[in-house]
Amino acid sequence: MTGKKKQKAESAASSAGESSFTKRSIVILGSTGSIGRSTLEVLDEHPGRFEVVALAAYSDVNRIIEQAAKVHPKYIYMGDPVAAEFLQGEPIGRECEILTGKESIAALAALPEVEMVVNALVGAAGLMASLAAVENGKYLALANKESLVVGGSLFEDIAQRTGAKILPIDSEHSAIWQCLSAGRDSEVRRLILTASGGPFRQLDKSEFKNVTREAALNHPTWKMGPKVTIDSATLMNKGLELIEAVWLFSIPPEMVSIVVHPQSIVHSMVEYIDSSVVAQMSAPDMKLPITYALFWPERLPSEFGRLDFSELGELTFAKPDIEKFPAINLAYNAAVMGGTAPAALNAANEVAVDAFLLGRIGFTQITDIIEKTLMNHQVVDKPSLLDIMEADSRSRELAETFVN
Ligand SMILES: NC(=O)c1ccc[n+]([C@@H]2O[C@H](COP(=O)([O-])OP(=O)(O)OC[C@H]3O[C@@H](n4cnc5c(N)ncnc54)[C@H](OP(=O)(O)O)[C@@H]3O)[C@@H](O)[C@H]2O)c1
Repeated sequence: MTGKKKQKAESAASSAGESSFTKRSIVILGSTGSIGRSTLEVLDEHPGRFEVVALAAYSDVNRIIEQAAKVHPKYIYMGDPVAAEFLQGEPIGRECEILTGKESIAALAALPEVEMVVNALVGAAGLMASLAAVENGKYLALANKESLVVGGSLFEDIAQRTGAKILPIDSEHSAIWQCLSAGRDSEVRRLILTASGGPFRQLDKSEFKNVTREAALNHPTWKMGPKVTIDSATLMNKGLELIEAVWLFSIPPEMVSIVVHPQSIVHSMVEYIDSSVVAQMSAPDMKLPITYALFWPERLPSEFGRLDFSELGELTFAKPDIEKFPAINLAYNAAVMGGTAPAALNAANEVAVDAFLLGRIGFTQITDIIEKTLMNHQVVDKPSLLDIMEADSRSRELAETFVN
């Protein structure tokens, strides 16, 4: 393991408790979503520690009005121009500057007065904001895993140059980040990502063709937005997380393993060369990794999410069934192919998940469409941003033809 990002994780852990900030200025992208709302709840529990400079969402005007009335941002971004126009005509439109248009979301992530950007957007739509945050030396508290899946190579040296830090919010990557403080880069044998297994862990493969939207949206442990919930049902979420880990911790895909752990208590692990395994555990609540990232490098005292091992019962671990869940191998193959392959995988997944949610395709077709798109994709090595954007749009078009 040679990563510069691993060094960041080490410095994060070693300086824990040394520094404290009085007030952190923050932008929350995707504030109306599941992670965005949990982030605002954490802020609410710590009055006076954060100044919210901007909120951003797509079209949920009612929720963003409610949020803005509480945190008084200077800017509100709405991805949907109709929603932005609506807000202009509301009292909130006189109190805040209302923005729309893709460039504005990147501009918010680059605001000079902002120290931290929380990226809780969903999908590849989060890439430009993540790049802008890192280019401008911010702390990027990253939930939007698709940023790294699609454009991981673009982030490689920027953070080093600008002093930016990527602080993972995904519970698995937050766990690995914390476990990495137990050893050196050269002592890591592998990263072990845990997976809940989703709602269909025990369902026979022959039943997969009958899976409904409602059943797929009913995750056993986590309450999340619809796209990531479907990704968790196909296990593509774990595949995307594998690629995210490759970039976040500068580690080859073959050094990342996946293990099914339905209780979601062990959030992930690091195995060292002496065969010691360091795990991070807590109750499954996204507010814990969000708090860790928001207050980094401080670790806050808290009773929330405490485990009572005498009450916990069994913790089980099993190999993922890759026959039943081909998404894991598809993502692994895309990671090995490199270049624009992960961007193609992600684009096809976004199109297929959307089509499934709209009732246009069945559950098993999601991974069929991703596989066909990936097979037809001509990989561009060492891609530029333009190459990635072209791969994304070509793969979306191709996946759409398979949907049709
Ligand atoms: N939820 C979890 O527990 C969890 C855990 C780990 C990682 N993650 C990752 O975190 C990210 C967010 O997940 P989520 O579950 O919070 O998603 P979500 O509930 O669907 O929320 C998505 C947010 O992004 C906004 N948005 C979507 N497209 C946009 C666009 N083009 N421009 C501006 N805003 C846009 C939505 O606004 P509207 O509400 O107006 O549509 C909403 O605020 C995903 O990458 C996911 O994989 C989530």
